[in-house]
Amino acid sequence: MITIRAEKKEDIAQITTINREAFNGEAEAKLIQLIRESDYFLPNLSLVAEVDGKVVGHILFSEISIETNSGVVPTLALAPMAVLPTYQKKGIGSLLVKEGLKRCQQQGHASVIVLGHANFYPKFGFVKASLKGIKPPFPVQDEAFMAYEVVPDALKGISGTVKYSKPFSQI
Ligand SMILES: CC(C)(COP(=O)(O)OP(=O)(O)OC[C@H]1O[C@@H](n2cnc3c(N)ncnc32)[C@H](O)[C@@H]1OP(=O)(O)O)[C@@H](O)C(=O)NCCC(=O)NCCS
Repeated sequence: MITIRAEKKEDIAQITTINREAFNGEAEAKLIQLIRESDYFLPNLSLVAEVDGKVVGHILFSEISIETNSGVVPTLALAPMAVLPTYQKKGIGSLLVKEGLKRCQQQGHASVIVLGHANFYPKFGFVKASLKGIKPPFPVQDEAFMAYEVVPDALKGISGTVKYSKPFSQI
């Protein structure tokens, strides 16, 4: 049985392990820790996937913004997400995204930005951010930079450049 729930203090070490193993490096685990210690952290949107009592996956949504000509629009970054290698390709990542987006909606957020696998996130309704007039703050592959409207048409009429929070520039 797979349970998706908000992280607890006792999950932190395992979240670090999951990210280290899935990404084969330290950067993502460090990013999570920096976000967790920042004002951009949303504890109810740091979610884990538990299988038979073992935490095997994690997804994080945190506060970022879109800078437009007429002001700053709040949005969320989906970053990072990871599933332990031995548990990948079993639908756990998909469940984390679906449940995560549902909770973003329940918690009153309007949109989500992700930089990631262009063949994965569109399954959940993400589209190229460029189609919505949203630009990345650094050069990226167009297909990999995506946006999701939690509230329908939340990004309509908004065009601008995403500004990541400080933790993203600290890794
Ligand atoms: C991406 C990830 C979170 C998906 O979790 P998962 O539990 O395996 O996901 P699901 O079983 O629900 O779906 C599998 C899908 O993930 C996508 N995917 C997984 N690894 C991928 C990769 N290296 N490149 C592109 N897409 C990938 C594919 O769309 C795949 O579908 P397919 O099997 O039909 O090709 C997991 O593979 C992972 O932790 N990868 C390493 C870290 C990472 O890349 N994180 C995401 C950064 S954007």
